[in-house]
Amino acid sequence: MRNEIPTKELIWSLPKAELHLHLEGTLEPEMMMQMAKRNNVALGYQSVAELREAYVFADLQSFLDIYYAGCSVLVEEQDFYDLTIAYLERARSQGVCHAEVFFDPQSHTSRGVSFETVVRGIHRALEEYQASFQMSSRLILSFLRHLSEDDALATLEEATPFLGWITAVGLDSSEVGNPPSKFTRVFARARERHLLAVAHAGEEGPPEYIWEALDLLHAARIDHGVRCLGDAALVARLVARQTTLTVCPLSNVKLHVFPTLAGSNFADLIDEGLRVTVNSDDPAYFGGYIGDNFLAVAEAFALDTAQVVQLARNSFLGSFLSEPDKELRLHQLSSVASSISF
Ligand code: HPA
Ligand code: ZN
Repeated sequence: MRNEIPTKELIWSLPKAELHLHLEGTLEPEMMMQMAKRNNVALGYQSVAELREAYVFADLQSFLDIYYAGCSVLVEEQDFYDLTIAYLERARSQGVCHAEVFFDPQSHTSRGVSFETVVRGIHRALEEYQASFQMSSRLILSFLRHLSEDDALATLEEATPFLGWITAVGLDSSEVGNPPSKFTRVFARARERHLLAVAHAGEEGPPEYIWEALDLLHAARIDHGVRCLGDAALVARLVARQTTLTVCPLSNVKLHVFPTLAGSNFADLIDEGLRVTVNSDDPAYFGGYIGDNFLAVAEAFALDTAQVVQLARNSFLGSFLSEPDKELRLHQLSSVASSISF
């Protein structure tokens, strides 16, 4: 394979899975303004330009404040459908053939939008892309960790009629001060209902939160996890079990987890033998979808084609696809990758 940094066209053409994506974080300013208008929601921003100018964040919390304000325009089932379709189209254009997406029901039910409204709109869009483009997907119900465990338990109850559409539970929002241990009971109940688990841990929080996500929540993947390098025993465990880390490079820079991409530990994670994947997190806010994230790390760390293909391989290996479906996707990836080698 070529040794030089692969081109954008090549990177985008590689079949890949997205494993860390908040649907509400794909709400582009144009769509936000349109929905605010059609739903009569006062946004506090007069134009798309003004909105974009507000997207300067000091840390995770300053982002979340704007992200939850943006969620307020999502009211009708059609809004959730339109949001999801817009994401799927962008992701597909950048090579995504399988997407495992988070949604935050509590940020909607707390405003009086029913769980059913949210999940029906999202599910309809996911089904449509499976039927029209063979784009497979999984839905992950993410609990807001700044709220109580009782609130999460009530949300899981509301989800009961729709569990056939939901593969896993997750944990997001303000990390520091809200450790995974706060949610042990609700994750146990989700396990009883045959849901898988993932959790954000080690984005701003310490390595102990990653241990808790693994040991107490039985997380199959760690979302972000970039702070694991501070703990050698943790790294050894993650490597031994090849636990997938869903890393979000552009997000980490936007939220000042690292000062720059080149100054991030992305290459160190790979060098440690960790199973690293590349994802977009909240692309409407962080400046790029998955292909943009792949390209940014390839350029920042001078990755060659083989390394970029390995990142795409990892995305399928770390997915919740069945083993035969993983094989199929890996085969498709190999075919594309071999067509670009000389
Ligand atoms: N981190 C934590 N919670 C979130 C994020 C994130 O990047 N995006 C949406 N909710
Ligand atoms: Zn996230």
